[in-house]
Amino acid sequence: MQKKTGSEKLWGGRFAEATAGSVEAFTASIHYDSRLYKYDIAGSKAHAAMLADQGLLTKDELAAIVVGLSAIENDIDLGAFEFKRELEDIHMNIEKALVDRIGPAGAKLHSARSRNDQIALDLKLYLRDQCDRLVQLLDEVRRAFVVLARRYLGCVMPGYTHMQRAQPVLVSHHMLAYFEMFGRDKDRLLDCRKRLNLLPLGSAAMAGTGLPIDRQHVARALGFAGVTANSMDTCGDRDFAIEFVSCCTMAHLHLSRLSEELVLWSSQEFSFVDIADRFCTGSSIMPQKKNPDIPELIRGKSGRVVGSLMALITLMKGLPLTYNRDLQEDKEPVFDAVDTVSASLAIMAELLGNLSFKTERMQEATRTGYITATDLADYLVLKNVPFREAHGIVGRAVAFCIATGCELDQLSVDQLKTFSPVIEKDVYQVLSVEGSINSRVSAGGTGILRVQEALDLAEQQMGMSK
Ligand code: ARG
Repeated sequence: MQKKTGSEKLWGGRFAEATAGSVEAFTASIHYDSRLYKYDIAGSKAHAAMLADQGLLTKDELAAIVVGLSAIENDIDLGAFEFKRELEDIHMNIEKALVDRIGPAGAKLHSARSRNDQIALDLKLYLRDQCDRLVQLLDEVRRAFVVLARRYLGCVMPGYTHMQRAQPVLVSHHMLAYFEMFGRDKDRLLDCRKRLNLLPLGSAAMAGTGLPIDRQHVARALGFAGVTANSMDTCGDRDFAIEFVSCCTMAHLHLSRLSEELVLWSSQEFSFVDIADRFCTGSSIMPQKKNPDIPELIRGKSGRVVGSLMALITLMKGLPLTYNRDLQEDKEPVFDAVDTVSASLAIMAELLGNLSFKTERMQEATRTGYITATDLADYLVLKNVPFREAHGIVGRAVAFCIATGCELDQLSVDQLKTFSPVIEKDVYQVLSVEGSINSRVSAGGTGILRVQEALDLAEQQMGMSK
């Protein structure tokens, strides 16, 4: 039997002995980067077309390459392609299969290209698609909030600061707060997409190439807005991956805050919402339990996404230019972030469609806790009492209520006058929850007029207007 040498590898020429099995196992990435196959193949086809245009491949060679790559793609689609660990990664698995199928023409494909710019290309193409997918998922979640805001328009609830009842708000205002948050997440992804949408291919190993290539041609074919400016930067750059995962992180932080509120609101202590049975699970020991596992899991999964971001940031810290094999470690955190945030957004959109608010309970919760105290202070300000003084007056009135066990709107005008002589009968308008809410007509406030406008605008934006 002939002695096995390194020459069986695509890069094996200078090697006198075969790679150790342990090294192959340790260095391989095919078990996760196979997910990039469609992008790798699309990139190779565009590259080959350009090489042919530049006279570096004949028409026949190009045709053979395109047919071969399509057949490989088809096999992978069908699960009929055998990925080989000894071929390390997706690039070499596909290239080797192509050479095996079509012979010498396949071996010409890698002209003017390196795996260093190739992987940057695959990852950018993949992330560009993921930006678009996540934007759609974010819009589904945002639409769910608009539906809830419309359904519960006019219903009231306490707004909280420090987790203490603060001021009454419209439930719709609370829903539209999340609409805004996830809207910023969408904008961030679109912005990230814009920045990553430059072709890395043609940077070759890191210094560019002496072969007569046309990068603009490839950029156009793959829908890039242009080409990257510096080959060294390009081969060592993963800013775009960090930026993308940080967009995912921010979206998942928003999901975790929402989840936390859903967990609280579905507790007996709050009892503000009901999550449909088919979106909850039970306890194996406590028969009465109905647990909000979905928001809990989403809240928990935030840690994974933050972890992916940390992994990427740490990976890049102190890395010298240009490509280093460390960069292979970028993909698993990126994929995990994509999977986690996609799954969380999708299930959250569904859950929101299965959510109902217990509006009477929410309204009841605004009846106690001196929740319109700020309105009383504002009332005094309108009667020319300096705000700081007004704050003190209302504070004393609240202390009196606490001591006597009543609410502000249960005090008589005469009782109220003992705190400030300017208080008249019209005070009850501002002491009522509805009066309080509807007075807050400042831009962005919870007054029904403002919320109605915001809701109309949101519906328009989401193409949901009737
Ligand atoms: N699998 C590699 C990665 O993910 C592709 C680039 C490898 N380049 C190299 N010179 N070994 O980073």
